[in-house]
Formats: sequence, C-alpha cells, structure tokens
Amino acid sequence: MPNSSKNRIQINEKLLEKLNEDTVTLEIAGMTTVSKINITPNNFINLEPTLAKKLLVPSKAYLPYHIRNNYVRLGPSVGILTSNRNAENPIPKGKNGRLYKEMINYAHNHGLLVFLFYAEGVNWKKKIIKGYTLNNNGKWISGNYSIPNIIYNRIQYRSIENRNNVKTLLEKCTSNPNVYVFNSRFLNKWEVNDALSNFALGKKFLPETMKFNRSNLRLMIQNHNEIFLKPINSSRGQGIIKIIIKDDGSYQYSKAEVKMPKWFSTNSFYNLFEGLTRIGAKENRYLIQEGIDLTTFDDRVYDLRAQFQKDGNGSWVITGVGVRIAGKNRFVTHVPNGGTAAVFEDVINKTFAGDDAKKTDINRQLKLIAFTIPVELEKRLDINLAILSFDIGIDKDGKLWILEVNSKPASFDEEQIRFRHLQYLVDYFIYLAQINIKE
Ligand SMILES: Nc1ncnc2c1ncn2[C@@H]1O[C@H](COP(=O)(O)OP(=O)(O)OP(=O)(O)O)[C@@H](O)[C@H]1O
Ligand SMILES: [Mg+2]
Repeated sequence: MPNSSKNRIQINEKLLEKLNEDTVTLEIAGMTTVSKINITPNNFINLEPTLAKKLLVPSKAYLPYHIRNNYVRLGPSVGILTSNRNAENPIPKGKNGRLYKEMINYAHNHGLLVFLFYAEGVNWKKKIIKGYTLNNNGKWISGNYSIPNIIYNRIQYRSIENRNNVKTLLEKCTSNPNVYVFNSRFLNKWEVNDALSNFALGKKFLPETMKFNRSNLRLMIQNHNEIFLKPINSSRGQGIIKIIIKDDGSYQYSKAEVKMPKWFSTNSFYNLFEGLTRIGAKENRYLIQEGIDLTTFDDRVYDLRAQFQKDGNGSWVITGVGVRIAGKNRFVTHVPNGGTAAVFEDVINKTFAGDDAKKTDINRQLKLIAFTIPVELEKRLDINLAILSFDIGIDKDGKLWILEVNSKPASFDEEQIRFRHLQYLVDYFIYLAQINIKE
C-alpha cells in the first residue's frame, strides 16, 4: 500500500523558526488572536489555556499548516457530525467510543483538532458548536468551539439524517464557503446504480439492475437463473430477498433473516409476485438485481468489503480489503446473519489456488474500481466524498461485481487497515485545509 504521509504538503519549518521571537496572528477555524508563539520540539504551536480560550479550542499543540508573513493557520479543525439515539448521553460508549477515541487521539497527535457534535449543538447566531473531544490526558471533555474548517458526516441512521434540523444544518454548512463538508449523506442503491450505469467502466462492474415491479420482475426472470431483491435504502442485509429460477420453471424465494432463512416455492408467476409482496417487497422501495454466481470458501459464498479513501494529495487510494464469508446456506454475508470476517489474501489464495493470472487480475480490477468509480460517483451525484466502502462480489471466473457502495463505512476490525485509514484521513484533512485557503 502506498504511504501517503510522504506526500503530505510540508510545513515550512524555517519560516516557523523565524517567527519564534515575533508576535504573530494565530488563526484556527476562523478565530484569530495576536500573540507570541511557543513552538514545540516537533514544530507544533502550543496553545496554553488562555490563548486556547481566545481561539475557542482546547489547550494543546497545533499544527501550523500554513504560514504567510506573520499569519499562522493552525489545525485544521474538524467536526464529526454524529447521532445518538440517547440524547441524554452525548459521549459515545463501547466500541463506537473506542473508535472515536482512536481517531481523535491520532488527529491530536498530528496537531489537528477533531471533535464530535450533534445537530442540536449548533448555535448559528453565536457561530459556535457544542462539541466533544479528548483532553491531553485522553479524557472526554465538552466545549463550545467555532464552526470547523471541515465537517465529516458520520450519522449512522437514515431516520436521523432525514430529520429537518439535520437537513437544514447540512444545507447551511454545504453552502458555507468557509466549511468543507464531505460524505454529507447516505447514498441509496438506485442513485448509485443510475450514476454508474451511465458510463462504460461503471456499467462493466454492475450486475443488471432494475426497479422492482411486475413487468421488470418478469423480464429479469427470463434472463437470469438467480435474482436478488434489495431495498433501495437498505442496510445491514435487512430485507434482502433471493429468488432462484429452477430449470423446470418453478421459483424458490427467501428473505434474509438473522435466524435461518425460510424458503418458499411456487410454480406460478402470479403467486411469486404475491409471495414477494407478502414478505415485504414493495414497488419503488426495492430494486431487482441479477444474482452473481459468487465464488465460495468452504462452501460458503463471500464478498469483499473494500474501503477506498482520499489521501494527502486528494487522490483515491485503497485503504484495505476485508472478506465477509456468509454462514452455511446463507446468501448474505453480514455478521448478524451468521457471516464471519477473513483475510483477503488468504481467501483469494485458496479460492484461486494455482491460478496466479486470476489473482493478479482480481487486484487489477480492484485498483481499476478504486481509481475510477469514486471519482465518477462524486461527479455524477454532485457530492463531496472522501471515504467509501464497496461491497464487491467475485464470480467463479474471477470477475468483480459492485454489489453496493456505502458512504458510511463501518470500521474495520483489522487494526492495520484501521490505522491506515486514520493516516489517510488526517493527511486528507491537512490537504483540504491547505487547498481551501482564501487569501
Ligand atoms: N447481485 C447479487 N448477487 C449475489 N449476492 C448478492 C447480490 N447482491 C447482494 N448480495 C449479497 O447480499 C449482501 C447484501 O447486499 P447489499 O450489500 O447490496 O445490501 P445491504 O448489505 O443490505 O446494505 P449495507 O451493506 O448498507 O448494509 C451482499 O453482501 C451479498 O452477500
Ligand atoms: Mg452491503
């Protein structure tokens, strides 16, 4: 994997040294103050409590990411927009809490400010946000911070993202030239399909997909042996239905569930459509997709969870690839449905043992997807994206298929991938701050 830190735009150390004895203007997220500076051994600028208070940030060492004459920009400051079902308790707990701590600590060690905030905590009149971050001892603290340079939307529920206050907040921030918002919303399966099917390379990796209705179902059944019905706004494998078209023309269908799925069969198209409706398939809410004949590992289907993100040059890179193997006799790979995680190289080596050409080609296709599809999605959906997770199926011939694109990627359990993710993220924050300077 490439190391993006070497690409990071350098901080001008000589310039910083020259400022050592001077009085300079310090700026962080739009707040400024004039002061002498205290440079740390690793060339950060330490803001002691009174200075930090004036700049509406916690007291700690900050990266001088841009220096011009006697004007020093610190940070940048990054707000992570999040959601919580329990409004009484704004500090994230459990696994989520650990992951945010990891992200904040990593960013703080690199001289940035990262804080979590909720839509309810934004005061537009005073231009302050109630945020939650870590102090120098790694303990959660809350404070009123100024509107950050960058906002990353990590709201985990579509229902919360659809609330009016959240929508207004995101619209306001997106149209504010001093704030850069990315991954501003959930994607839905239909818009992704629509965007990708309109150019040759995108189309190449997409299974055939149509909106769910009676006539499209009839068409898809004529052309494929297996089809999937998927909720357009689905998540976590809920509501997914598989239909198998048998050689004798009969149908078997089943809906993915946490417990072992139950299979239904029928000979008539009329009964099939009625049956699908009965188990939850709805026009306009579902799409129909050609079933991919996925490769198996120990007789179980699997797919890839590939994370792509922007690096310190603003270019898309592969963060890492994990494998999710379905439970026995299951057709979705999600962990709550009996799926397990595995190591990409191990699984590919076993599935395509002795076929080096195929293994090489899988990596080639992965790179092709990573370096072309996210860029097109940003353009065609007119949205800033900096991190995406792709569910990718591999068929028996070793061809890759994009099953889903997710703008709220789940964190990897694989530590190495998680840290690479943090490194790219922080590099990207600095890059963004540096290119967005308005002089
Ligand atoms: N066309 C397909 N052919 C074969 N298997 C598929 C196909 N589409 C989906 N699957 C299987 O079903 C799983 C779930 O599908 P998908 O990722 O599209 O929806 P989702 O997982 O519910 O959404 P999310 O990933 O946001 O939770 C996939 O991981 C894959 O195992
Ligand atoms: Mg998925």
